[in-house]
Amino acid sequence: MKKLFIIGVGNMGGAILEGIIPQVLKEEDISIYDVDKSRLQPFLDSKIEVVHTIEGGVKNAESILLAVKPQNMEDVLMKMRGAVSERNLIISIAAGITTNYVKRILGQNTKVARVMPNLCINVKKGASACCFSSDCTNGDKQFVESLFKELGITLSIDESKMDIVTAISGSGPGYLFKIMETLIDIGKKEGLKEEDSRKLVYQTVSGAVSLAMNSNISARELREKITSKAGTTEAALKVMDEYRIEEMFQEAIKAALNRAKELSKE
Ligand SMILES: NC(=O)c1ccc[n+]([C@@H]2O[C@H](COP(=O)([O-])OP(=O)(O)OC[C@H]3O[C@@H](n4cnc5c(N)ncnc54)[C@H](OP(=O)(O)O)[C@@H]3O)[C@@H](O)[C@H]2O)c1
Repeated sequence: MKKLFIIGVGNMGGAILEGIIPQVLKEEDISIYDVDKSRLQPFLDSKIEVVHTIEGGVKNAESILLAVKPQNMEDVLMKMRGAVSERNLIISIAAGITTNYVKRILGQNTKVARVMPNLCINVKKGASACCFSSDCTNGDKQFVESLFKELGITLSIDESKMDIVTAISGSGPGYLFKIMETLIDIGKKEGLKEEDSRKLVYQTVSGAVSLAMNSNISARELREKITSKAGTTEAALKVMDEYRIEEMFQEAIKAALNRAKELSKE
């Protein structure tokens, strides 16, 4: 019996798989399945079992991690339906797929964990939030937390907060890449070599994050502390305020929230 069967080893499923071995699970504890056979190729020489049907994988596993896109979820759940039992724990990382939706297809007695990780799990610096259906045991919760703690930090939240987590941290790396991309391009336009501009921006973001994480004052206080009167930072921040940066972020997060609701399957 495998401890974990992963359905979908794309960006996220693949990162989870590579991140949890060997600290949380051994290769021989895991089986995988993907419709895209090229995704399975890198694991053919390992002790991870590549299974040929979803049903076969489900029957021989304790927990099942669903790492396919939300639009493929119904198809996957329908294929699992006959094979899943009350002893299985289903872990879904798909945006907008609720624990209720999974239960409606797999049966009301199915134990379901819902997790919203982000891309940074690739470098074990992920921010994940998880919630559980009421029938999950402490052991189930500990198992899920052990997987995602290995990949960064993990918080337990109420399912009603999943959409805001998706909009803030799930999609968050994309917003920060956009800011970094913009600063790098401006540096380049103003005469820096692209490589130098990139190095400066990456180090600045990484340094600012370290400062914030190692400081006992808020991000607002840190900003105020480094903004000297009539200095360059103040000049730039004033323009950001004139362009209503806070309003822009509020609208952007609202758009992400609306999209999460559109994708949502209750
Ligand atoms: N990417 C992120 O930053 C992020 C963050 C948080 C949560 N998520 C969630 O993570 C999930 C996976 O996202 P991803 O970016 O890893 O997607 P992905 O790279 O497209 O990986 C999904 C994999 O599943 C395969 N697949 C599709 N239908 C399948 C089926 N019926 N049975 C088995 N495998 C199937 C896909 O193959 P094909 O390519 O051939 O379809 C692909 O190889 C999504 O639900 C997303 O909401 C993603």
